[in-house]
Amino acid sequence: MLAQPDYSALLTNLGRYTDIVRLKGGRPLTVRFIEQKDADALMAYFRGLSRQSRYNRLMGAASELPPSELDRTLHVGEGSRFAVIAELKVDGVDMIVGEARYSYSAETQNTEFGLSIGDAWQGQGIGSAMVSNLECRASALGSLRLFGETFRNNEQMIGLARKAGYTFGGAASDWRQVHFEKQLYRATDIPCESWKQAAMTGWLQNEAPLAVR
Ligand SMILES: CC(C)(COP(=O)(O)OP(=O)(O)OC[C@H]1O[C@@H](n2cnc3c(N)ncnc32)[C@H](O)[C@@H]1OP(=O)(O)O)[C@@H](O)C(=O)NCCC(=O)NCCS
Repeated sequence: MLAQPDYSALLTNLGRYTDIVRLKGGRPLTVRFIEQKDADALMAYFRGLSRQSRYNRLMGAASELPPSELDRTLHVGEGSRFAVIAELKVDGVDMIVGEARYSYSAETQNTEFGLSIGDAWQGQGIGSAMVSNLECRASALGSLRLFGETFRNNEQMIGLARKAGYTFGGAASDWRQVHFEKQLYRATDIPCESWKQAAMTGWLQNEAPLAVR
């Protein structure tokens, strides 16, 4: 069994992996690794989700992000687990409008993800934008496949996954859930900062470091 790489030592400057993603209409969405300083804002974000959204995201009833999960979330890279937040500028202030976590398995070269978008921001293309950013981030880790699981009745997530080209099937970890996955192809351009950083430092498996500006 392959040991899980620990990226926390490599990720010394988390801000370097920040992406600015353009939403429909051109509004910039910032997607960046979560940092310790974001802990309170992230807790407030989870408390602010509707009960249904929180249930769908945390796969069960919880009024907030459990402390053990918060702790894991804040240790980006440890055990090949990563967490990002999506921010929009609202009245000049950065506001968390979404979050995602993903974990890479070196053994299977699969990356699993889960995400949420704040209720007031759903249906505006932010979830889709985050998923395509996650595809690039997963690819930069050497991942060949991105997958997720969601409740069978979660029409929003199922709709998003279907639209983004995910296929359904395979065994979900729980009978109440469906499994969806997408094969990833190495990008020929550099659509996210993680890919660029990975290319420069030689993280990408079987590839020599690239000379990327
Ligand atoms: C699921 C979720 C992440 C989707 O994010 P979003 O920003 O609302 O999604 P988008 O606006 O990018 O929508 C993308 C596509 O998803 C589908 N979709 C979105 N809402 C939908 C709904 N209510 N019913 C069916 N399909 C829907 C549509 O195909 C949509 O494309 P379109 O707008 O061109 O029709 C968001 O609703 C959410 O956070 N829900 C609560 C937490 C959750 O369920 N997380 C998933 C756990 S893995």
